Amino acid sequence: MIFADTTTTVAWVILLASVLGWVIYGLGNLRSSKREIGAEIKLAANRKPYYDDERLEGEKIERTQLIGLAFLAVTTIALPLYWILEPGRMVGAEKEFEHIFEEWGSGLFATTADGGFNCAGCHGGMNGGGGVASYSITDPNTSEVKQVNWKAPAINTVFYRYSEEEVRFILEYGRPFSPMSAWGLVGGGPMNDQQIQTVIDYVKSIETPRDANGKLPDEKQKEIQDEAERLVKAGTYSTIGEALFNLDLGGGNFSCARCHTKGWSYGDPQITGGGAFGPNLTGGSVVRQFPQRDEMIAFIKGGSEFGKKYGQQGQGSGRMPAFGLMLTDDQIAAVIDYVRGL
Ligand code: HEC
Ligand code: HEC
Repeated sequence: MIFADTTTTVAWVILLASVLGWVIYGLGNLRSSKREIGAEIKLAANRKPYYDDERLEGEKIERTQLIGLAFLAVTTIALPLYWILEPGRMVGAEKEFEHIFEEWGSGLFATTADGGFNCAGCHGGMNGGGGVASYSITDPNTSEVKQVNWKAPAINTVFYRYSEEEVRFILEYGRPFSPMSAWGLVGGGPMNDQQIQTVIDYVKSIETPRDANGKLPDEKQKEIQDEAERLVKAGTYSTIGEALFNLDLGGGNFSCARCHTKGWSYGDPQITGGGAFGPNLTGGSVVRQFPQRDEMIAFIKGGSEFGKKYGQQGQGSGRMPAFGLMLTDDQIAAVIDYVRGL
């Protein structure tokens, strides 16, 4: 409807008021012009005798020159001032623009109740610190359907692990066989390219601040270490490497099991490292893929890249995250020792 919202109504009122104003002005003009007929010589401004020469070449010309000088002064001061201030204004405008996108993105990120796409609902609120998602699973053998709580990883560290293109791929196509559905139109989801980009801008804005080297800050890495040591002391795992592989901090986003152990994400783990979204790491397959330990360190630190080869016979898809900015060298060495023994 054309009268549907207040903005349209206000616009109509303004339009009608100004049209009415012009009509009244026109009519008034017509009326007063009738009175002037026959009196042009008296009334016309251009028939009035102008100043005499003395005034024109004296006072008048000086005043005009002074005004000119004043304008020149304004121009010579304003122009350099503009040059000085413009770069700052441009930077500010760009920031403001980013800020607007982050704000739009926060609207998309919000829960369904707040009108968003519910990223916040599964990923642990507006700061994306990790959460759970309800999901139904069909048992492949018995066809029995059961309801589970699936861990949703923290995404305030997702750019530590993935490039922007890799994150875009995850958002557009989702994680099949998990509660993370496809969000991009290309993957059959509801969001267009601009919305995907805007939500990416928001996810960037909530990122856990990095240290000077772009890594996870020391206190956060210590939190990971403390939790791993606690689990070893409690007897849950026998080595730090095993504890890190299975670590359940931030929805499992510092660990390996959520992708390499089927069922880990919903509290029903099958064979540890037996393969799920990521390949099977047991039966010596890792040592066959990476006979050299150094090569494996580089792979775990850098993750896989789309199309790029790794190990003896691997080709990356970009889906294996990079852990070099999240875990310390010692932590990575401990995980690798554990995985090579699986
Ligand atoms: C229904 C719950 C749900 C919703 C809604 C949801 N996600 Fe997810 N998301 C998940 C789960 C669960 C995973 C982990 C899947 C797995 O185990 O591999 C995930 C994975 C991800 C990942 C990959 C992280 C990683 O390190 O593997 C990103 C990025 C992500 N989601 C972002 C988003 C964004 C952005 C939105 C909103 C547009 C969103 N998600 C909406 C449940 C959800
Ligand atoms: C988000 C899911 C995910 C997480 C978390 C993850 N991986 Fe992977 N991993 C993969 C995928 C997928 C591949 C297959 C390579 C590809 O697609 O690029 C892979 C490949 C590997 C390989 C090579 C296996 C082979 O035979 O080719 C190793 C080794 C490995 N991962 C170890 C780990 C370790 C150790 C961790 C934890 C520090 C870990 N992964 C965490 C998804 C993951």
